[in-house]
Amino acid sequence: MAALNCSTKISLIPALIFLLLLLIFHLSPLNLQNNLTNFLYSSINYTHIKTNHENLLSSSSAAAFPALKSIGGNLATVTSNRHKRKRSSLERVEDDLARARAAIYEAIRSHNYSSTKPQTYIPRGDVYRNAYAFHQSHIEMEKRFKVWVYKEGELPLIHVGPVNNIYGIEGQFIDEMESGSSNFLANHPDEAHAFFLPISIVNIVSFLYKPLVTYSRDQLQRFVMDYVGIVANKYPYWNRSDGADHFSAPEISRANPELYKNFIRVLCNANTSERFQPQRDVSIPEINIPKGKLGPPNLQFSTKQRPILAFFAGGAHGYIRKSLLKHWKDKDEEIQVHEYLPKKEDYFKLMGRSKFCLCPSGYEVASPRVVTAFHVGCVPVMISDHYALPFSDVLDWSKFSVDIPSEKIPEIKEILRGISDKKYLEMQKNVQQVSKHFVMNRPAEPFDVIHMLLHSVWLRRLNFRLLPILISWLL
Ligand SMILES: *[C@@H]1O[C@H](CO)[C@@H](O)[C@H](O)[C@H]1NC(C)=O
Ligand SMILES: *[C@@H]1O[C@H](CO)[C@@H](O)[C@H](O)[C@H]1NC(C)=O
Ligand SMILES: *[C@@H]1O[C@H](CO)[C@@H](O)[C@H](O)[C@H]1NC(C)=O
Ligand SMILES: *[C@@H]1O[C@H](CO)[C@@H](O)[C@H](O)[C@H]1NC(C)=O
Repeated sequence: MAALNCSTKISLIPALIFLLLLLIFHLSPLNLQNNLTNFLYSSINYTHIKTNHENLLSSSSAAAFPALKSIGGNLATVTSNRHKRKRSSLERVEDDLARARAAIYEAIRSHNYSSTKPQTYIPRGDVYRNAYAFHQSHIEMEKRFKVWVYKEGELPLIHVGPVNNIYGIEGQFIDEMESGSSNFLANHPDEAHAFFLPISIVNIVSFLYKPLVTYSRDQLQRFVMDYVGIVANKYPYWNRSDGADHFSAPEISRANPELYKNFIRVLCNANTSERFQPQRDVSIPEINIPKGKLGPPNLQFSTKQRPILAFFAGGAHGYIRKSLLKHWKDKDEEIQVHEYLPKKEDYFKLMGRSKFCLCPSGYEVASPRVVTAFHVGCVPVMISDHYALPFSDVLDWSKFSVDIPSEKIPEIKEILRGISDKKYLEMQKNVQQVSKHFVMNRPAEPFDVIHMLLHSVWLRRLNFRLLPILISWLL
């Protein structure tokens, strides 16, 4: 794009007036929403990038973002004219994202990364959908990504969450973002690429729903809507994107589908039959976090020390586990399925001595067994329906897990026995590699589970562009 100087600006005035009319007629808030939705489905999609490598190699980054070209082109015209006026904070944020996108495309093109910092880990191998894209995207995130954490609201429903047990990731993440030491914290909301509403669903459920007499979501929804109302009234950020650059845990779209259709839900229960949208939302793993620890124990048995073909122990929660227990409970030496484990048995050791660990959905699609399996070097077998797997925009789960839909539960043994030793060894090696992305560190470290969570949000933010308010400048 040619840079502009003052004389070319004069000849641009008719074009700018035209643009102004275009803005007035086409960018009503509703249209902006439609544009945002389109952006979410276009631009950076690692799967897409991989399958369209040929195109990308021969195209400029502008052509790679067809949806951005019309608006983005005009925006760049305005942005580059910095002698005339200061760029708005939103333009700076958007320019930053544009640079990140360009760097990611360059990494894809060159099959290499660029960074001024030494790299502690270089993602490589087929566990990644596109290792180069992911690596550069992670570098760009560490370099640029800033999140504003809203200060409004009071403990214990906002600003803290449980740091232990299976939902411990919620409290750990809130705590990481509230501790004040994270590099991802914005000093001012104007410099933020994304906005975090530090609401704890677990605390809402345990405080507002006491005694627990209903599973109705009314109270939860009202609480969250009030909170959104408060920050949307006080600041311009929610309204300017209709919430599309905001993320939080609660799924409240049923309360007001129009108002909440854009905002990014970060959920363990990533059930695509319950309005979880993989392009918009973020699926995160459940991690069983014991008191005083950051995750399940790490055990590493060699593949030779794994005499059990498959293992599961747990209650009959939900239809999938009921079916699993009905078909396999205490019936087979190789497929060890137990409802209750005898007291003398060590659950983690048994998982560590199994080749495959069965991870059926319970009352919710996610299971903390997946991360436990990674910690003990066991290949997880996902038995679920409608589950959008965590970080699957970056990770290729088929390389380190087995997927069995619930109706194939009777065939588990055949399916697992059908996996060759060679294929199993590859998967097991891959489990050891990806387990890095499911480890919790406090403070968080590059490529760990908190960075992966942030990266999922970052990626969604890269997928659209917000329009600065051009009108006020043009008038
Ligand atoms: C990414 O692109 C692929 C292939 O074009 C498509 O199948 C997939 O649904 C897309 N994913 C997202 C998250 O948009
Ligand atoms: C990849 O980039 C790094 C740092 O930018 C550089 O040190 C390395 O030599 C490059 N590798 C190749 C194969 O070009
Ligand atoms: C955002 O929109 C809501 C109505 O949808 C309005 O009540 C609120 O005042 C707006 N906030 C700002 C900062 O303009
Ligand atoms: C996922 O959502 C569907 C539709 O509401 C529901 O029938 C199913 O039980 C859910 N799955 C789990 C494991 O909760």
